[in-house]
Amino acid sequence: MKTHILQKQDVKRAAKYIQQGELVAFPTETVYGLGANAYDTNAAQKIYTAKWRPSDNPLIVHIYRKKQLQEIAHIPDAQKQNIKLLVQRFWPGPLTLILPKKECVPLEVSGGLDTVAVRMPKNRIARELIRLADCPIAAPSANISGKPSGTEFSHVFQDFDGKIACIIQASRCSIGLESTVVDMSGDTPLLLRPGGIDYEELISLLPDLEIGYGKHIEKPKSPGMKYQHYSPEAKVILFKHASVSQIQEHKKQLEHTGKKVRVLASQDIPNFGKKLFSLLREADTQGYDIILLSSIEETGKGRAIMNRLEKAASEII
Ligand code: TXA
Ligand code: MG
Repeated sequence: MKTHILQKQDVKRAAKYIQQGELVAFPTETVYGLGANAYDTNAAQKIYTAKWRPSDNPLIVHIYRKKQLQEIAHIPDAQKQNIKLLVQRFWPGPLTLILPKKECVPLEVSGGLDTVAVRMPKNRIARELIRLADCPIAAPSANISGKPSGTEFSHVFQDFDGKIACIIQASRCSIGLESTVVDMSGDTPLLLRPGGIDYEELISLLPDLEIGYGKHIEKPKSPGMKYQHYSPEAKVILFKHASVSQIQEHKKQLEHTGKKVRVLASQDIPNFGKKLFSLLREADTQGYDIILLSSIEETGKGRAIMNRLEKAASEII
């Protein structure tokens, strides 16, 4: 299949592809998305095939205005006020809400669950695409399953050229980490994935927010949590309690065994988050065998970054 590279002035053409049941990769403020008409079962199926994504891992449905939320999801009475506050404060933006789904959302999109993930992105191109397509757009991150998410056009091109109808080319995603996912379908709000909205900001609106991700969770509520994620070809080693000089020492030892080793610095947190997935992919194109990372404090974006690092790492020391 020929993959058309479109610019932002061609969004109308991209929207046509969505209407025809084809896949379109598009920028959002978090990461690029791989989109299809959320009401079209066959189109949604194509996403799983193109990404090699397990069929039980549900997709996020993207909308362009707040009113569309009621079209696809029920608002539980118990959480009505909280949902109103979250939407007012964080939409459009990097917050995804899990809610009971309405009939119109196919089970292929919700991964067989009776809930649906909904997000209203801030990125103008993304919203224009959804508006012109005239349907909500189901879109996971635009990367082959298990690989680091695509945050630059070149990443998306590398993973999907020849496999999808078109890619909308734009600059690097401004946040570079995926949205924060909060499950609002039950009695208590549950944080399923830290991301573009910081935990500290959420807790100020939702004091009873519980943490629903991490090693202590036996049965994750978010199917995506059980799969390998964000992994480059290179082996990633995360150091939890080592100093910079200890990491450098480790590097030397590995290099003595003939390995090409890259140390990634994570001191400048906001920019590190923005560039993390690019740095992981870059290490592969530059032929590194091993990436060494030090852990950072889990506050602000540090929480989302550490979550990605722990998933990317095959060894934590
Ligand atoms: O920033 C983002 O959220 C990007 C852009 C494109 O919007 N999208 C994204 O999608 O990161 P994806 O598919 O890579 O991650 C969605 C996560 C997965 O871990 C999935 O399991 C979880 O959200 N999820 C989706 N629907 C769910 C549901 N009904 N219940 C629980 N978890 C759900
Ligand atoms: Mg993803």
